[in-house]
Amino acid sequence: MSRTLSAVVAVVLIALGGSVVAQQQAAPAAAPVAPPPADLPEWAYTPPVPGAPPPPATLPADDNAVISIPGTARTFTRGELRAVKETMDWYPEDRHGTLPDIARFGKTGARQCTLCHTPDGSGRPENAPISAYHPTYFIQQMQDYRDGLRKSADPRKANTNTMVAIAKATTVEEDRAAAEYFAQQPYPLKLKVVESKTAPKVRLQGGMYMAIPAAEGGSMVPIKATEIVEVPDSNLGAEVRDTRMGYTAYVPPGTLARGKQVATKFQCGTCHGANMEGLGPIPAIAGRSPSFTMRQLYDMKQGARRGPWAEVMKPAVAGMSVQDMMNVSAYAASLAPPAPAAPRGTR
Ligand code: HEC
Ligand code: HEC
Repeated sequence: MSRTLSAVVAVVLIALGGSVVAQQQAAPAAAPVAPPPADLPEWAYTPPVPGAPPPPATLPADDNAVISIPGTARTFTRGELRAVKETMDWYPEDRHGTLPDIARFGKTGARQCTLCHTPDGSGRPENAPISAYHPTYFIQQMQDYRDGLRKSADPRKANTNTMVAIAKATTVEEDRAAAEYFAQQPYPLKLKVVESKTAPKVRLQGGMYMAIPAAEGGSMVPIKATEIVEVPDSNLGAEVRDTRMGYTAYVPPGTLARGKQVATKFQCGTCHGANMEGLGPIPAIAGRSPSFTMRQLYDMKQGARRGPWAEVMKPAVAGMSVQDMMNVSAYAASLAPPAPAAPRGTR
């Protein structure tokens, strides 16, 4: 380990040690619940719209319909893709190691991890990437959910509430098996960040924002100065968990330069690595979904995510406005993840 790196890790460990003591002394107060904060960045939280019609599906209604996607000769029926017991994997040849049972099948009270986080662990914008993290960090997150120290700032965010219930159902041994498996999966390289005055018109579909196809009234519309529009490059690909498919995040012009200034001002690189590629157990932010990153920063600022390690982030999030968080989320997303990385899909 280089001297600089050891020094940084030492600083962080001291900070962590201190915060653990502080936590033991002061029993955590009840976490904030409804209603959601007034400045909640809804684009990052995908809240349900009351009274909205059920989200459309790209998949046919017939469970026996055979589905295929470009890039592989494999096919699955819609019934298989509904993933009741096990998540279908279009590219098992891309995986490293053996998927542990908890991640593959889940158990009573805990759906299989691959259902939401996808078979490569790269996740989707509305949940979380869980691949290529240090197992110590991963296991700590499971513990924080279990201890009630990690929730969503938006109490309506049902999948985060489900994640909390899952962490309460798994054992530490199961967490470790999942952590070690997902740590072996290559860092996903699937995101493209585009500065643009316009972005696709979106709708909530399958829990995430997807571009409305042109045939159904979709078009490019002006992008708001305060929003990132993150969409899968193929709606069908997103629905069937095509792990080679890419995502595109549209951000207003100037966002990346502003985000870089925020990163410099708050010294994100000191802890997360110069290119946000992660440093020891401190997670990588580069190339991760900007909607996910935005939620984490906002959740930390609101005190909804307040595990012992999150304490270290307090000074940074306290100083950032919601707009700063949006800018830095986009900037971090635009950075290349560290090698080895999986190839970005072309679809
Ligand atoms: C129902 C969908 C769902 C399932 C199934 C699920 N998760 Fe999650 N998971 C989520 C959501 C949602 C989040 C948090 C998103 C957020 O904070 O905005 C999350 C976050 C995480 C994180 C934190 C990642 C980070 O970097 O902050 C870890 C670790 C994790 N999950 C592990 C697991 C494991 C292990 C399993 C299987 C035992 C699992 N999850 C099953 C939905 C799910
Ligand atoms: C003093 C060290 C430090 C600094 C500076 C710092 N972070 Fe962090 N960051 C951490 C630690 C430690 C964690 C793990 C928190 C936890 O476990 O809850 C973290 C977690 C995160 C997460 C959640 C990642 C995930 O996978 O869930 C995001 C996003 C993040 N930081 C972004 C940033 C950004 C952006 C900046 C600069 C504006 C920054 N951090 C500055 C130490 C730091």
